[in-house]
Amino acid sequence: VQAALKFTPAPRNYLTSCEGRLSLCGTINHCLYFKGKALEQHELVSGADEYVIHALRGKRRIVFERASGSRLWDVEGREYFDAISGTNGPAMVGHAHPLVTERVSAQLAKLPSTFLAHDSVPVVEFAARMSELTPSGLSKTFLCPGGGEAVEAAVKLAIRATGRTEVISLHGAYHGMSLALMGLGGIPSLREWFPGGIRWPGFQQVPNGDAYRPQLTVKEGGWETAARALEATIDRGSYNRIAAVLIELVQGPGGHVVYEDGFPQAVQRICRERGILLIVDEVQTGLGRCGTRWACDLYGIEPDIIVVGKAFGGGFPFGAFTAKADLVDEELEASPWHVLTFMNQPLQAAAGLAVTEIVESQQLAARAQILGDRARARFEQMAEKYGAIGDIRGPGLFIGVDLVTDRTSRLPATDACSGALEYALDMGLMTWFGGVGNVLKFKPPLTVPDEDFEHMLDMCERVVAYVDGKIR
Ligand SMILES: Cc1ncc(COP(=O)(O)O)c(C=O)c1O
Repeated sequence: VQAALKFTPAPRNYLTSCEGRLSLCGTINHCLYFKGKALEQHELVSGADEYVIHALRGKRRIVFERASGSRLWDVEGREYFDAISGTNGPAMVGHAHPLVTERVSAQLAKLPSTFLAHDSVPVVEFAARMSELTPSGLSKTFLCPGGGEAVEAAVKLAIRATGRTEVISLHGAYHGMSLALMGLGGIPSLREWFPGGIRWPGFQQVPNGDAYRPQLTVKEGGWETAARALEATIDRGSYNRIAAVLIELVQGPGGHVVYEDGFPQAVQRICRERGILLIVDEVQTGLGRCGTRWACDLYGIEPDIIVVGKAFGGGFPFGAFTAKADLVDEELEASPWHVLTFMNQPLQAAAGLAVTEIVESQQLAARAQILGDRARARFEQMAEKYGAIGDIRGPGLFIGVDLVTDRTSRLPATDACSGALEYALDMGLMTWFGGVGNVLKFKPPLTVPDEDFEHMLDMCERVVAYVDGKIR
């Protein structure tokens, strides 16, 4: 509209009052003239309150306007540093990466979408690329707009391919929030609100092999017991119709849980021995974040299906899974086993191709390892000063710092952390507290410049000091 009417570039947004109601009308020309005033943050917040349905809305209201690299700016020009792209953000190669912008824009201009029954050039290219990048034996890819949708599609494929209906996941797991996936989540607070509870018949969770807070033993070394619990559940607690075990190799949202070495391998062995499919959810851990291309590489895991999301889109909505070809027969591909208007679309593929190119050409997995080592060394120095740091967990630049009331009991410092998110935001640090609100996340883009990286660590130190002070 602006171009057609030869307007000068309009300020970012306009809000005008119509019969006492707020309405956003930045693209309607008469509104531009009606009250041509850029919106203030508080007006946008009122607009958001009136018109937007949120989930997990923060106490501190921020309205972002733009971002670049590892920084974002709100509508008042306040600057924020992104330390959460590896968790609830997708900007692993940085915000608004020029190559992603260029490739997605070019694709948008050339062929933005296709129809259900046919292919497009970038989708074939991206799927072929995934067969090269994913652990050995995986070769066929399904694309969709989100990680949860990809997990759900992978689970359906496993059920269809095996003819079995049961699926096991772990305590502390997070795989998405669809109706079915809520029953595969292992974080009670995310599902307990649901009236009457919810779990797809045949879905269940077993204890995980948490190295720091073993669920089944009082001391470290509990992973063998957790592996036995999985075996017992499969052999004695199921209907012997288990299609798949679904697992994150480091549990992100569930509190950055790292298993003891031995547990993931045992899960793989248990599945193989029984002909059960292993689905690995690498929505957070995949594509270099952990210092290797996949978290699978850290443990020698070769899944039957790998699921990815977030980072691969470089900001564009993205999810995908790649599976062994023998799980996907001709009949399945011709049938409506899973149908989405936005499955296998060229824009997702263009974004994914750009991101994988950036990760490979800039050797971002190696960079994640280098930066991760630096960050862990810095948190270890902090641990000498602040007793609140109970555990510092990697791998790579996928870091969670477990804050505790004391190191002996390892009790989560949930209360002490309660104001820490706002405290961090006051400084301009975008972070997150996972687990039961006590695990500080440090997961900036892998392209973060050194200066921003050090600045974010300085701010993290102040957050840790704040929590430590509250405990004392
Ligand atoms: C491990 C894991 N799996 C799946 C999902 C779901 O992805 P999305 O939010 O794109 O549906 C997430 C999102 O946080 C995740 O962390």
